[in-house]
Amino acid sequence: MAGKIVVLTGAGISAESGLGTFRDEGGLWAKHRIEDVATPEGFARDPALVHRFYNARRIQAAEALPNAAHEALARLQRDWPGEVVIVTQNVDGLHEKAGATAIHMHGELSSALCYRCGHRWPSPPEMAPGEPCPACHARAGRPDIVWFGEMPYHMDEIADHLQTCDLFASIGTSGQVYPAAGFVQEAAYAGARTIELNLADSEISRAFEDHRVGPASRVVPQWVAELLA
Ligand code: APR
Repeated sequence: MAGKIVVLTGAGISAESGLGTFRDEGGLWAKHRIEDVATPEGFARDPALVHRFYNARRIQAAEALPNAAHEALARLQRDWPGEVVIVTQNVDGLHEKAGATAIHMHGELSSALCYRCGHRWPSPPEMAPGEPCPACHARAGRPDIVWFGEMPYHMDEIADHLQTCDLFASIGTSGQVYPAAGFVQEAAYAGARTIELNLADSEISRAFEDHRVGPASRVVPQWVAELLA
C-alpha cells in the first residue's frame, strides 16, 4: 500500500532531545500557569513574563538536536512511495533539523509575529516587550505561537489531509488539547487506519486501532522500518 500517511506529533517526540513536555511529571505546566504565559490575556497583562518564558524555550530549542524518532520520520518522508504529511503541535523546529517538512499548527519559536499588521519575521533569540515590527514599525512583536483561545494555524489544509489519508499516526501527544486530539476521529471516519505511538496511554488511546508503547526514539524507528520493509 503506497497510500498517504499523516503523522501528528506532540511534545513526547522531543522529550528525548531534552525538551520538556507539558503535562508529564515536572512538565512546563507544573512550573508555569497557562493563563500567565500561553494566553493573549496573559501577554496583555505581563508581556515581559511571556517573552521570558518563550525566550528560555527558544534558546533551549535552538541548542536541541533531533533524536532517532525525528530522523525516522524524515526517512519515511524521503523513502515512502506515497505522500507523508507531518502535522506538529511542537514549536521546537526539530522536524526540520532532521531534514523533514512539517505543518506547524501551533506556530514556531523561530518566528515572530506583529500583532498590529500580521507580519512574520525570523525571531531574534530573545524578544522583549515593544519589539519593533520590521514592516509597520509598530512596537507590537510577539512570539508566533498559537495560545489557548486562539485558532491553530493551517486548519483547512490539515482537514483536507485528514480526509484523504490512508494511515493516521499520532506520536507523543497526550490527546488533551483540541482540535489536534480530534484528528484521529476525523481520519478514522474518512476510512484511514490509525496507530498511536506513545510512552504511555493517552486520553485518546481507545480511538486508535493499533498501538506501539515505548519511548519514541525506539518505537518510531521500528514502526518506520516495518513500513519501509
Ligand atoms: N516517547 C514517546 N512519548 C512520550 C515520551 C517519549 N520519550 N515522553 C513523554 N511522552 C508522551 C506522554 O506520554 C504524553 O502522552 O508525550 C505526551 C506529552 O503530552 P503533553 O505534555 O500534554 O504534550 P502535548 O500532547 O504535545 O500537548 C499538546 O498542549 O500545552 C499545549 O500547545 C501545547 O502543543 C501543546 C499541546
